Amino acid sequence: MNTPLWEARADLIIVGTGVAGLTAALRARELGLRVLVVTKAAGEDGNTRWAQGGVAVVLPGEHDEGDTVDAHVRDTLVAGAGLCDEAAVEAIIAGGPAAVTRLRERGAVFDPAPTGGLARTREGGHSAFRVVHAGGDATGAEVERALLAAASDGRVPVLENHVAVDAVRTPLGAVCGLLVLDGNGVPGVLSAPAVLLASGGLGQLYQATSNPEVATGDGLALALRAGAVAADVEFVQFHPTVLYTGRGARGRCPLVTEAVRGEGAVLVDATGARVMRGVHPLEDLAPRDVVAAAITRHMAGGPGGVDDHVFLDATGISDFARRFPTVHAACLAAGVDPAGEPIPVAPAAHFACGGVVSDVDGRTGVTGLYAAGEVARTGLHGANRLASNSLLEGLVVGTRAAEAVAADLALGVLARPSASAAVELPTAPVADRDSLQRVMSRYAAIGRDAEGLAVVGSVLDLSTVDRKLDGRQLVEDAALTVAARALIAAAAQREESRGCHVRTDFTERDDVRWQRSQVVRLNPSGQ
Ligand code: SIN
Repeated sequence: MNTPLWEARADLIIVGTGVAGLTAALRARELGLRVLVVTKAAGEDGNTRWAQGGVAVVLPGEHDEGDTVDAHVRDTLVAGAGLCDEAAVEAIIAGGPAAVTRLRERGAVFDPAPTGGLARTREGGHSAFRVVHAGGDATGAEVERALLAAASDGRVPVLENHVAVDAVRTPLGAVCGLLVLDGNGVPGVLSAPAVLLASGGLGQLYQATSNPEVATGDGLALALRAGAVAADVEFVQFHPTVLYTGRGARGRCPLVTEAVRGEGAVLVDATGARVMRGVHPLEDLAPRDVVAAAITRHMAGGPGGVDDHVFLDATGISDFARRFPTVHAACLAAGVDPAGEPIPVAPAAHFACGGVVSDVDGRTGVTGLYAAGEVARTGLHGANRLASNSLLEGLVVGTRAAEAVAADLALGVLARPSASAAVELPTAPVADRDSLQRVMSRYAAIGRDAEGLAVVGSVLDLSTVDRKLDGRQLVEDAALTVAARALIAAAAQREESRGCHVRTDFTERDDVRWQRSQVVRLNPSGQ
């Protein structure tokens, strides 16, 4: 055990500077809490700024086509394929209008409709045009800009380039702070009676993902090590359309927002045949899991499949460059002109539908530990997230989590951190990242079977060694190892296909055995 080399104190420590973390920080500050936000990279480096499509929300007075909160709830439940928590869905979606109003008051500017009110688009699985957007297809960037600007008045200190390694816990198991490495790898302790994980997802489990390099499942691993449980981790959503830039594309792939299909583009193969025809009544606007799986099947052997990509024909969208400036720029950079030719696209890992089990107020089962945003599993997404529900969840649950912390502090139910608790950097199993990404992409993406999942397990066993977590890369690799193990264990157990979990050896949905979530916890050896 060592005394930490540095220490800071607050009422609430928040891990992550995306939509959920910053929203929580701002609300906590309004409630008079001393907040400290920590991120392992720069403030704007998370997943939020890459979100394109928008925020799914039914705004009173803005919608003139009979859309309702109830319809939004229904669409979310249908997309979630029987595994959503209905009460959580209702609470989060009902909280959307107020959350978006508050975000606009904080300075976020959404695109106006020519006829007044806000412009709205449609994405897969939505029965109405209810997705509000900013900068055409740069919604996440605008949300991140506005929240960072609102937080930048000095009352929300943000520690950049500090990676959270582990939770500090009381002898009774309550979380009372974080063990953190600063930018030079020097360990310190952030002490607080409450820690909110808003650290995002785990797209880096796969070789091709829409997620930036920071999405390594750190919060999930930290929460599991702290005694929390996770659920629905087998449901990793693959976005149907990232820009295909050539065989073996690796790392973050530019997204081609589903709103492009919402505004008329269609998926075709190399012969020009429609990929989604006859697959689902909503065709190109079917829920995302259906579209991603159909493209994968088509690539694997359908007529006209080009084995590793299909095409998105957006040539019918007349003002493409104005409406989708981000996608347009990415296409031009790749030598594709969307006005004159179909865009080559393929599915890529995009969103963790499961995560740390928490309620709609962010409370996990561990005293002092809260979760919000992609790292959390509130039950909103079930087996497949409805498009553009994630920024909404971050806004609503981020706010509620700050309020829950304030309430729990007032009730005196949280642990008071003791002075300068001794700490030790933990040792954990760490797999080789390249091997892990390769086998996860091959055997645990869309289309899994028992044999392939067992191969992933064997490769993880062979490439894993115990390491002291004394640097950011090791913390990330240890987190990816925990996340991969949790995912393949849950995926192997679930002998059915449902939502984002597609088994080639159990192709049907089995409501009798499997209309339930699976809970994951760490065993004593940390696996
Ligand atoms: C998209 O714009 O297609 C992605 C939006 C989302 O993942 O919710």
